[in-house]
Amino acid sequence: MTPPLITADFVVRHAGELVTCGAPATATAGTDDAALGIIEDGALAAADGRIVWVGRDADLAAAVALAPAATTLDARGRVVMPGVVECHTHAVFGGDRAGEFQMRVRGWSYQEIAAAGGGIMSTVLATRAASREELFERGRLHLDRLLRYGATTVEVKSGYGLTLEDELRILEIYRDLAEVVSQTLVPTLLGAHTVPAEYRGDPYGYVDLVVNEMIPRAADRGLARFCDVFVEEGAFTLEQARRVLEAGVAHGLRPKAHVDQLTGGGGAELAAAVGAVSADHLDHVSDAGIAALAAAGVTAVLLPGAVFFLGASEYAPARRLIDAGVRVALSTDFNPGTCYTENVFLMGTIASMQMKMTAPEVILALTLNAAHAIGLADEVGSLEPGKRADILILDTTDHLTIPYHWGINPVATVIKDGKVVA
Ligand code: NIG
Ligand code: FE
Repeated sequence: MTPPLITADFVVRHAGELVTCGAPATATAGTDDAALGIIEDGALAAADGRIVWVGRDADLAAAVALAPAATTLDARGRVVMPGVVECHTHAVFGGDRAGEFQMRVRGWSYQEIAAAGGGIMSTVLATRAASREELFERGRLHLDRLLRYGATTVEVKSGYGLTLEDELRILEIYRDLAEVVSQTLVPTLLGAHTVPAEYRGDPYGYVDLVVNEMIPRAADRGLARFCDVFVEEGAFTLEQARRVLEAGVAHGLRPKAHVDQLTGGGGAELAAAVGAVSADHLDHVSDAGIAALAAAGVTAVLLPGAVFFLGASEYAPARRLIDAGVRVALSTDFNPGTCYTENVFLMGTIASMQMKMTAPEVILALTLNAAHAIGLADEVGSLEPGKRADILILDTTDHLTIPYHWGINPVATVIKDGKVVA
């Protein structure tokens, strides 16, 4: 007896390599091609925006019936992979820091610029001064560019308002942007990004504001899914960060944290202790921090573009993290200060050369592992039945060229929820 046909309204055929990122999905997710679940001359079918069938093209006709007005795309032998999950961005802000970039070229450090009143605070002032429309249009521009680089899901942080009203305003802009952009947006409250100038002498007063007002209001209004904090000299101490993250948990916001970026000091351990979904940066993480992340199952989000753009030399120890069993994701950290690029694939090349991540590790880090970093691994990040039909057709026939052909945009077609969007 022949099995009943699955009906589909969207099909991709003849993927030379259908990179599913599916089957194995172990915690470390493997360093070689086997981890990618590649199907040669593969095909994929979707219905109502969800994947319903994945397999060899030769088996498609026997398994899938096409609905009358179905869309069929021929990948003509090229690579087909899951939409990129951009799991760490600061996409809404006012102004830019091109002038500060030149100061860095002339030898100032990121910390020196911040201590002189620039850095995050200069973007905060520009953001507060910008109108809602300006911030919305600017955010849309950056998200559209991220889409063309293949990002079909994007985590977006507040953190350039640093007053109750300005933080909520940024989160509202993300809520409104979600209505017009093609991606799924996943909002994070980063009220504890830095202590704003007006609270310099009273950091605990600012933490009170975050804990007692920002977190409850953002959570009650459903404006954020995660709560993030920047643990660093000049930003927040471990103790302050713990208060913020625990307050977030109490209001249903899962913790994330910027830790061990410019200096090391127990941030990864804190992320593990509070049950964070991810610990981000980790350029200076200690062995104890790595062990804590592994034991607690916290995803490490590595942001090598920020190290590169700061002209720093210490990259996160990706190999040691992977060897310890930590799931590793990659992201741009898109923001005007430490990584002003939407080219998420470029992160794969930097990760290859500076952190010795293999091509399969890079591809998993941009997709399935990044989905874990935002709690969406059941929805996106791999090409498997049941997941959203978020799919990229690349301009290449070999997945090994993804980190190798660098600085370019390898994406030919972007499909979101079973529809071509770019
Ligand atoms: O992730 N580290 C803290 N926050 C950002 C930088 C923000 C900025 O410089 O504007 C980051 O690198
Ligand atoms: Fe960041």
